[in-house]
Amino acid sequence: MAAAKAASAQAQKLRAELERHNHQYYVLDQPLISDAEYDRLFRELQQLESAHPELASPDSPTRRVGGAPLPQFEPFRHRTPMLSLSNAFTEDELAAFDKRVSEGLKTSQVEYLAEPKFDGLAISLTYVRGLFTQGATRGDGYTGEDVTPNLRTIKSIPLRLKAAAVPALIEVRGEVLMYRRDFDRMNQRQRENGEKEFVNPRNAAAGSLRQLDSRITAKRPLRFFAYAIGAIDGAAAPATHAELENWLEALGLPVCAERRVVLGAQGLMQYYRAMGARRAELPYEIDGVVYKVNSLAGQERLGFVARAPRFAIAHKFPAEEAMTEVLAIEVQVGRTGALTPVARLKPVFVGGVTVTNATLHNLDQVRAKDVRAGDTVIVRRAGDVIPEVVRVLPEKRSPAALAFQMPGKCPECGSKVERLESEAVYRCTGGLFCPAQRKQALLHFASRRAMDIEGLGEKLVEQLVDAGMVHTPADLYDRSRLNAARLAALERMAEKSAANVIAAIDSSKQAPLARFIFALGIYHVGEEVAKILARHFGSLDRLLAADWDGLIAEKERVQKENARRRNKDETLLTPVLHGVGPEIIQSIANFLRQPHNRDVIRQLRASGAVDETRVRPSAKSGGTLEGKTFVLTGTLPNLSREQAKELIEAQGGKVSGSVSAKTDYVVAGAEAGSKLARAQELGIAVLDEAGLQQLLKES
Ligand code: IVH
Repeated sequence: MAAAKAASAQAQKLRAELERHNHQYYVLDQPLISDAEYDRLFRELQQLESAHPELASPDSPTRRVGGAPLPQFEPFRHRTPMLSLSNAFTEDELAAFDKRVSEGLKTSQVEYLAEPKFDGLAISLTYVRGLFTQGATRGDGYTGEDVTPNLRTIKSIPLRLKAAAVPALIEVRGEVLMYRRDFDRMNQRQRENGEKEFVNPRNAAAGSLRQLDSRITAKRPLRFFAYAIGAIDGAAAPATHAELENWLEALGLPVCAERRVVLGAQGLMQYYRAMGARRAELPYEIDGVVYKVNSLAGQERLGFVARAPRFAIAHKFPAEEAMTEVLAIEVQVGRTGALTPVARLKPVFVGGVTVTNATLHNLDQVRAKDVRAGDTVIVRRAGDVIPEVVRVLPEKRSPAALAFQMPGKCPECGSKVERLESEAVYRCTGGLFCPAQRKQALLHFASRRAMDIEGLGEKLVEQLVDAGMVHTPADLYDRSRLNAARLAALERMAEKSAANVIAAIDSSKQAPLARFIFALGIYHVGEEVAKILARHFGSLDRLLAADWDGLIAEKERVQKENARRRNKDETLLTPVLHGVGPEIIQSIANFLRQPHNRDVIRQLRASGAVDETRVRPSAKSGGTLEGKTFVLTGTLPNLSREQAKELIEAQGGKVSGSVSAKTDYVVAGAEAGSKLARAQELGIAVLDEAGLQQLLKES
């Protein structure tokens, strides 16, 4: 007896505890304990209830996991009809609503409760003496479906109301919905499990709530917000809608934190604009805002017309999705050469503007959505986001519609289109020549770490290209095209600054090979890679004549061989072009294969842009390390040998292969061997990487 009593007390304690944490987590968004701790309490209650079946209780959190499937939903007759709302789409329609209300109530300025219009499903929840007993969908407004077991699984719906004095009966109305982030996560799971994805959070919420098997509903991340009541018994309703919602909140029901009391048509418009601006940042989707006369007596006085209340209205946002037709799929070349398929659309009004194009992102996306020219599609434009094709309506497809193919040649310049293995993006390889990439290519060419042409910035590049004076970097050095007189004729270009720009271009000539290679703007070729290429090839001719396929094959061979050697702890081979991976080489090969790019490079060379004898780009005389000899040994934590060598040489130092009395410093990394020992023998200064960096900084 005593044991049973103790079990009952413990079960009650656990239930209260678990519901409190549900409320903290799902309603207040302020969890107090970890998920693991919650799970522990939950399991303890589950064990207790299965050991003492007589303790079973309808408000136990263990009942939220769902139960055996129903054969069908039973009809649920609403105590008072669940009506729809009339809509206002324009400011005029809104003003007309406010006028009708203020005339009906004979007040000059009406007070309203305004809140978001949730894009979910309306439901009704019945609580008898505080206990959740029954819940139903709206149905046709008069009769809905009894989905009690499903609603029980929604953690933000309390199974028992909180306050001490609860009414004998209260029917709460509100919306079931799914948060956007929960929806995304759920869809990702669906995708990973090879299951069908949901179209949008609303559909997902509707599909989840109408499951005959509530164990499925229990796995879906549904939420609930209360916004009205349908019936009340054994308690007086408050005087205003705002107080009503505060009361619902006190009973433990989730209500929307965005609700506000506003005054008159002006207050309504202000609220509408404010919510419109915040729409995208809300965690759930809304399709407008709802205004309700705040005074409940006022609501009663105004009553209903046909199927909607006269005291409330939905002020809708422009729809973010619309149906239209794909006229064609074209390909756009971006500033960096990336090819983006774009759907040309039959003009459609969506998200508040007329849309004629929608991005399809890349070929993978086109394939995944299987969009074809001629298709009927749903397009979406939310906020300032670029319009996109959400999905195709396959039932409307003509059997003649052909799947989209990425063109093999750039539609802007005719260069070959390639895709690197690791990327979803196809690119035009005509970087130096392609009109779409012109401005970007010139800007990069002139940038400080490339050819370093002062004064040739974004604005001027824009002007030069738009005026047709410059097409490729080679044109910069062609004085029949570009000279001080022609420059000075451009808008906002004084004679003096025109002369300065020409001088800056001229003095950029004779660039070291590495800088020049970097300036070409080959995809994936940064400064470091450019230096390695310059050092390895030593001249443009050799770079242009390189057997890239052979190099890739060689790299792959060494990679394989080294994998084998690593297993056996053998010494590794040093790969050619150390630091330049096969993917980068592929990109260089693609670029240099384009005759247009090669032409531009030859023109640049002919105009003296590059000095091929300056292979070591940054070796400078007069550096503070001038006359100092370094030996590198072992593996440094951050720098490759190559990089360390370059840094030293940049300050005029020399790097040698063996330690002798002439050595000034030995830079030793991990697993340094005999060279370090020799240095110690000779009493030569030994630096680690940090020491080297310090020395470089001082210089
Ligand atoms: S109040 C007496 N408030 O919009 C007023 N309805 O088209 C009853 N809805 O089916 C409704 N968000 O489910 C109200 N904050 C909100 C709402 C809201 C969405 C739904 C409601 C109704 C539909 C009307």
